[in-house]
Amino acid sequence: MRQVIFLHFLLGILTCLSVVSIVKAEDPYVYLNWVAEYGEASPLGVKQRVILINGQFPGPTVNVVTNDNVIVNLENKLDEPLLITWNGIKQRKASWQDGVLGTNCPIPPNSNWTYKMQMKDQIGTFTYFPSTLLHRAAGGFGGFNILARSVIPVPYPKPYEEFTVLVSDWWKNDHKELQQILDSGNTLPMPDGILINGQPRSTSFDVVPGQTYLFRVSNVGMMTSINFRIQGHTLRLVECEGSHTMQEMYESLDIHVGQASSFLVTLHGHGEFKDFFIVASTRFTKPILTSTAILHYQGSKSSASGPLPIAPTYHIHWSMKQARTVRWNLTANAARPNPQGAFHYGTIPVVRTIVLENSAARINGKLRYAINKISYINPDTPLKLADNFNIPGVFTLNSIPDSPPATGPTILGTSVIGTALHDFVEIVFQNSESTVQSWHLDGNDFWAVGYGSGKWNATLRRRFYNFNDATTRYTIQVYPYSWSAILVSLDNKGMWNLRSANWARRYLGQELYVRVWNNEHSLFTETDIPPNALLCGKAKQA
Ligand SMILES: *[C@@H]1O[C@H](CO)[C@@H](O)[C@H](O)[C@H]1NC(C)=O
Ligand SMILES: *[C@@H]1O[C@H](CO)[C@@H](O)[C@H](O)[C@H]1NC(C)=O
Ligand SMILES: *[C@@H]1O[C@H](CO)[C@@H](O)[C@H](O)[C@H]1NC(C)=O
Repeated sequence: MRQVIFLHFLLGILTCLSVVSIVKAEDPYVYLNWVAEYGEASPLGVKQRVILINGQFPGPTVNVVTNDNVIVNLENKLDEPLLITWNGIKQRKASWQDGVLGTNCPIPPNSNWTYKMQMKDQIGTFTYFPSTLLHRAAGGFGGFNILARSVIPVPYPKPYEEFTVLVSDWWKNDHKELQQILDSGNTLPMPDGILINGQPRSTSFDVVPGQTYLFRVSNVGMMTSINFRIQGHTLRLVECEGSHTMQEMYESLDIHVGQASSFLVTLHGHGEFKDFFIVASTRFTKPILTSTAILHYQGSKSSASGPLPIAPTYHIHWSMKQARTVRWNLTANAARPNPQGAFHYGTIPVVRTIVLENSAARINGKLRYAINKISYINPDTPLKLADNFNIPGVFTLNSIPDSPPATGPTILGTSVIGTALHDFVEIVFQNSESTVQSWHLDGNDFWAVGYGSGKWNATLRRRFYNFNDATTRYTIQVYPYSWSAILVSLDNKGMWNLRSANWARRYLGQELYVRVWNNEHSLFTETDIPPNALLCGKAKQA
């Protein structure tokens, strides 16, 4: 995709520039060959079917550098169609590569497809996981870290080593059994446990006394918020979903489904060395489920012991207050060497306010989840392909209202919000239910500007919004009977999934797409359909 832009660029200005200098500018390529297949594991002491990537559960950690081209040839050896999505990777100008059913046909069993992505101007902690059916409940997920280029200094000392930490709720049932529960109209039961890197107790992080480590912690679970902490140590938050934060110290931090945060942890340098517990426990659940890993000091003679560090229990306000302390470091570098603060998001006029309310309903006796009373149905033809081939009858723009309807039934539909490229939009997530929600937007980071209790109205902006140093992120939590607000500059042309990160809710319809569009066909705003694009539904004949 980069090559295509590059070629056009080259043809246009070949006469004025030396070829050599342009060729040098091409970014490096990273090639990954992945096989997704079933395997067996016993994370909670019961043998069950899991999804392995290259034989691993969780899947391999990807470590790449800003602007790298990442080519992933994914072979599907499952018995069902599969897509993997790249949580937080923006797919600049190329929603073709996003790996969700609105942009891609799924990869049929016993075949493969190659993603071609560029990590354009991104830095930080991301994840990948299957987006199809309930595959994610069986694994197939992993860490995806984008490191800064060597010419861009990060605003903290280089850690001795980095650890990728994936926390997930887990069931003893496999994904098909869980799907069956949802298909028959029921809610998922409480998870049976919490895993840290695929294990409930025994993951060990070997560390050297006196050194400082970076922990990249992601919640790759299905529906449960977690609190993360380390016995006898404090966490210095340095990065949150691709933004460098003000480096505040925390005893513990809440990480909601689909979210990620990175901490520096400095080890004790003196004394008798022992091991410590690393703890991930559930938030807002009864009972609380707890998982531990081991911080193993080199030379330690005693295993981790003593009471686990305490965590907040139900306290919603504690969590909301903590969320407001996560702030952008306005003087730190981003993926590009310009101070991020140069972008004064608080002064940009909002062209449209969209209020999205989550709800549960029964349609034909079956449980469904909805946004503004529309429960999403995936058409056989991916929306992006319908757009590309001008196939009518797949979706209707703005068939979902910009605010929740006061009355009326919940219906099935294919919701697509139509926006113009570069629109600056306010989205308010209104949660009138008793459970915490988590929302993710593909293709575009957003400023997480406000959290509040009760019903949102426009006068709350002045009281509760951070118009100065909110961080940009890709997933935002919404507390029970509360609202959360984001501002987003829709600068990435394409078809982008806005979804509940709670996977049962999304599977049963709590998602929509945001179409970011202009009528100008230009490779500077969007790449052409990749030559290897799979065609399905009505696009098969196109
Ligand atoms: C499938 O993988 C093989 C190599 O493993 C590769 O040569 C081929 O191009 C891939 N096919 C697709 C459609 O990506
Ligand atoms: C913000 O970033 C600057 C520049 O890298 C760094 O020197 C400073 O310590 C950071 N401030 C905080 C509070 O994290
Ligand atoms: C907005 O919400 C606040 C807090 O719930 C409430 O006090 C206020 O009356 C509301 N204002 C309007 C105009 O509805």
